[in-house]
Amino acid sequence: MDPAQSNTAVAEPDSAVAAALARLLGPEGRPDPYAAAAVLREAGPLHQTPIGHHVLTRYEDCAAVLSTTAWSHAEEAGMMHPTVSPENAPEELPTSFLWMEPPDHTRLRNLVTKGFTPRMVTRLRPRITELTEQLVDNALAAGEFDLVETIAYPLPLIIACELIGVPSEAYEQVHRWSQDLARGFDHDYTLPPEALTARSAASRGFMGYFRELLNERRARPADDLLSALSLVEDRGDVLTEQELLATCITTFVAGHETTANLVGTGLLQLMRNPDQFERMRAQPGLTEYAPDELLRLEPSVQITTRAATRPIEVAGHRFETGEGVVVLINSANRDPRAYADPDRVDVARYADPHHPAKKHLGFSLGIHYCLGAPLALLEMEILLDVLLRRARTLEPLTENPPYKPNVVIRGLEALPVRITPA
Ligand code: HEM
Repeated sequence: MDPAQSNTAVAEPDSAVAAALARLLGPEGRPDPYAAAAVLREAGPLHQTPIGHHVLTRYEDCAAVLSTTAWSHAEEAGMMHPTVSPENAPEELPTSFLWMEPPDHTRLRNLVTKGFTPRMVTRLRPRITELTEQLVDNALAAGEFDLVETIAYPLPLIIACELIGVPSEAYEQVHRWSQDLARGFDHDYTLPPEALTARSAASRGFMGYFRELLNERRARPADDLLSALSLVEDRGDVLTEQELLATCITTFVAGHETTANLVGTGLLQLMRNPDQFERMRAQPGLTEYAPDELLRLEPSVQITTRAATRPIEVAGHRFETGEGVVVLINSANRDPRAYADPDRVDVARYADPHHPAKKHLGFSLGIHYCLGAPLALLEMEILLDVLLRRARTLEPLTENPPYKPNVVIRGLEALPVRITPA
């Protein structure tokens, strides 16, 4: 097909589309990016941002891009973080396998998977339950509290630290670095200079801290991921120190911020739909399926990007090799072409084995499918179980809780709530 001809598939930006793009990709749209996503999705499958990025809106196209290695994630740094120079990239943005392609991606992901087995996750169930009970105890003692500070952050933070091997005296510090790195996932042109400076400082701080911790573990191995990773070998390959540090940092940030955001936005959805809480109370097995539905509706990773590794057509547009695309996970997950009544919370949506709902894109698809998905889902499931058992009511104290300005890794800044005991 003639590229010039096929490029007409990009919808002409009209004022409604331009306004929706601005809301969707800017901090002011954080409380409800979904209304803007719906405007774009219904206006067309493909749009272009003012800086020339193509944006995909519909489930089938987004899923197709994520599922195939015809699209690479390795160009991410150049596309989203043009202020990072290639020489400084490893220190500014740790280059983990999240941003690599086969064969490097396969080699590193296989090595990491070995140090991060399902057995390791299952073994965490009693510890996650114990910690969740403690956090809910604190909440019940307070009565009114900030759910983000009291439960959403400490739960995945403490579990991730224990899993990786970060001692408790460093929790505060790694939490701050992690927040600064998560903010830095946004496109550089949307970030104020202080956010870019904070991202560099966090990256260097993390690298230095994990390097020290790694040396300690090499001298005295412990029962944690850092020790396991420093020992894994695969047909003679070992992780280089740079790869190992980058992997630990990415695993930490990817696991901590995203899960915290799911806890906050997911519980807010349930508080706004108390009938769904009551459904789970009446049918406790549903807590196993509800986390997927909450993540479909409120994906912590709202968007991702890919670049074409060969000429390829998507949504009627021919992309040339190296051309990038923004995948709107937040739009795809609510596409009425993929989900019945897509804006409704239905905690049983994923519970019917005979008519399973389409896999949502909240953990991506294909070779970069989230390595920590079972852990994140388990944490959320246990939290729902404990809350249903220990609390009679949980309700928000404000209609409009504040959101962090983050576009890519989106979540609540605070969520004041009231809890009453069962
Ligand atoms: C609700 C929580 C979580 C969400 C929404 C989430 C989401 C995602 C997404 C969307 C990707 C792929 C990004 C892309 O394709 O562009 C990803 C990859 C990844 N996630 Fe998660 N994640 C979560 C929790 C975790 C946890 C708990 C861990 C580990 C402790 C983790 C570790 C990783 C790693 C290592 C990758 C890279 C995989 C690869 O490139 O092969 N994530 N995650």
